[in-house]
Amino acid sequence: MMLICKPTSSICSRLSPKQTNTMPTSCINHLPTQPSWLLLLLLFFGFLPILKLIFSSLKWFYNTFLRPPKDLKAYGSWALITGATDGIGKAFAHQLAQKGINLVLLGRNFDKLERVSDEIQAESPNIKIKIVLCDFSRDASTSIIKTIEDATNELEVGVLINNVGVTHQARYFHEVDERVWMDIVRVNLENTTRVTRAVLKGMLKRKRGAIVNIGSASAIVVPSHPLHAIYAATKGYIDQLSRSLHVEYKHNGIDVQCQVPLYVATKMASKVASIEKSSLFIPTPDNYARAAIRHIGYEARCTPYWAHSLQWCFANLLPEAALDAWRLSIGISRREKNL
Ligand SMILES: NC(=O)c1ccc[n+]([C@@H]2O[C@H](COP(=O)([O-])OP(=O)(O)OC[C@H]3O[C@@H](n4cnc5c(N)ncnc54)[C@H](OP(=O)(O)O)[C@@H]3O)[C@@H](O)[C@H]2O)c1
Repeated sequence: MMLICKPTSSICSRLSPKQTNTMPTSCINHLPTQPSWLLLLLLFFGFLPILKLIFSSLKWFYNTFLRPPKDLKAYGSWALITGATDGIGKAFAHQLAQKGINLVLLGRNFDKLERVSDEIQAESPNIKIKIVLCDFSRDASTSIIKTIEDATNELEVGVLINNVGVTHQARYFHEVDERVWMDIVRVNLENTTRVTRAVLKGMLKRKRGAIVNIGSASAIVVPSHPLHAIYAATKGYIDQLSRSLHVEYKHNGIDVQCQVPLYVATKMASKVASIEKSSLFIPTPDNYARAAIRHIGYEARCTPYWAHSLQWCFANLLPEAALDAWRLSIGISRREKNL
């Protein structure tokens, strides 16, 4: 019975071309004679991809716009933010303060730290702010750990935003100066890992906490990021670290998450991608942080800003070779501009 509907080569070889042409009609003609459970099953499997698409679109809409944000104070009364003097980190600091969370702000420039702290304090006079001077690319790793442990010893740090990140101008891998790529590895990967370990200890004792690691589309949305290979590789590490820690510490009440921004209109985006202003697909740091805070404590990996997730969805539809060629041409033209 089913043999008629299955045009295998052996059957086809036994049929004349005229018979082969009539096969689809013949399949349809036989449908009414099949048992109804079989028809229902076929219908279900036929619609499965459509159902999946509808379900994931509804889930995305709910997660992005309707899902209530977690009560961040329930994790602890303090948040520690690295790279808090500019861009996304500074925007996180302002908005967490508006939620009544006390802040430990880490940065490498004392004047900028004081300026940001004064701005936030004027806006949110009821919170406490501690500033910590720490250069992730210069200070010895042991001193970074001690600085953070000393600064947070008496505090209930419930939220850690591992935001600090650096990159370099578009260059082929062999052209990147040793000191430049070592700085990227130390800031984005080594010392971010150390801060995580230092802050995690207290969270484990209290059995609650949220860790947000800022990843990048360069490692996750596109299959490659030519001429920014070291940067993308460090962000790939951050993604995988976060996903494993998410599973490892979930049962300890600690929610680890990798957030994946695409372009955000910051100093970094201006330097490497000549992005000077925000647009629909390139949010301001404030708009990005607003969306990002709504996602804290949920999935292991997310793209919090709605237009970024649409871009990711479209990127998924394109062949990898096309994305590779596109990123390579962008990398080469940026390199030429910056030589
Ligand atoms: N902007 C984007 O389009 C984009 C896209 C994907 C991912 N990201 C990621 O988002 C995160 C934030 O990026 P952003 O665009 O906000 O960058 P940004 O505007 O350049 O700000 C970076 C922050 O990190 C601090 N910082 C840099 N090097 C440091 C060091 N050695 N020690 C301590 N602090 C240091 C900066 O301090 P100063 O104020 O002293 O410079 C600043 O506060 C990064 O992890 C980045 O990779 C950004």
